[in-house]
Amino acid sequence: MKPIVATAPGKLILFGEHAVVHGQPALAVPLTALRATVTAEPTLPNSGLHILMPDSRHHHTLRVHLGEDTENGLVYTAQLVLKTLGVATPPDLKLILHSTIPLAAGFGSGAAVSAALARALAQALHQPFDNETLNELVYEVEKIHHGTPSGIDNTVIVYQQPVYFVRGKPLETFTIPRPFLLVVGNLGHATPTHITVDAVRDLAEQKPQRIQPIFNRIGAIAAEARGLIESGQPNLLGPLMDENHALLCELTVSDDELDQFCRVAKQAGAMGAKLSGGGRGGNMIALVDEKTAPAVQEVLKQAGAASVFTTQVG
Ligand code: MEV
Repeated sequence: MKPIVATAPGKLILFGEHAVVHGQPALAVPLTALRATVTAEPTLPNSGLHILMPDSRHHHTLRVHLGEDTENGLVYTAQLVLKTLGVATPPDLKLILHSTIPLAAGFGSGAAVSAALARALAQALHQPFDNETLNELVYEVEKIHHGTPSGIDNTVIVYQQPVYFVRGKPLETFTIPRPFLLVVGNLGHATPTHITVDAVRDLAEQKPQRIQPIFNRIGAIAAEARGLIESGQPNLLGPLMDENHALLCELTVSDDELDQFCRVAKQAGAMGAKLSGGGRGGNMIALVDEKTAPAVQEVLKQAGAASVFTTQVG
């Protein structure tokens, strides 16, 4: 058997995070510059199934047994692949994982490594998954660490296309006829998504009359943003980003640093800025053009961002 290589990208949420958990539409795009890659190679007979992480600090190796409870997302992914394909004995294989997606940073690292691993293992077993099956499997794995996620992260990562996502509805992708530039500022620390999702759910239960209109407006913003992107006017997204950020503040998922990063990005010439993903740490995005990108990157670095980069969307 020749080595098999499978990959999956990171993700960025453009509009609609949190409200998407409560049934509103959201937009997300794959972050193709960041990738998880898994190579499947045969090993000696009866050696079993191993997952190798040569880049981890301790060169971790994990053994996959069937029927063993695990909290490890990678082992659970492999177990689910074997179960889904009806394979009773783990094959003699090593699955070697490399990823350029920072861990727990809000770029979908967990879903991406899980998608790449499941793809590689299924291909090595000569039963490659279609995207729909893979997406369901990765969603199951996401639930270990994220509680009850909407499913937007695994969907954009598995399909590797811009998605207009509505929970429980058939997948809709969208086109980006005119690419645009975003500066991404990463804070270097993140709050686990299930914590911010739970906080928003509690708020919505306590104050439904105040929070439901916020969810509705965020959903309308996501739909408007899709219209602007699809009609080739991404340069008009700025005010929608600012408004979406203000609504996320009302949902209590922003913090002082995210607010400051958005403020300085705007002062340096960004057309709009918002937090992206779960919030309370994590990432923010700012809409820029080629002229303003360097200044926006610079002010975010000065403001203390752990990493800053510019990405072209579309
Ligand atoms: C996290 O990337 C996006 C959230 O909306 C959570 C979810 O959709 O599951 C905050």
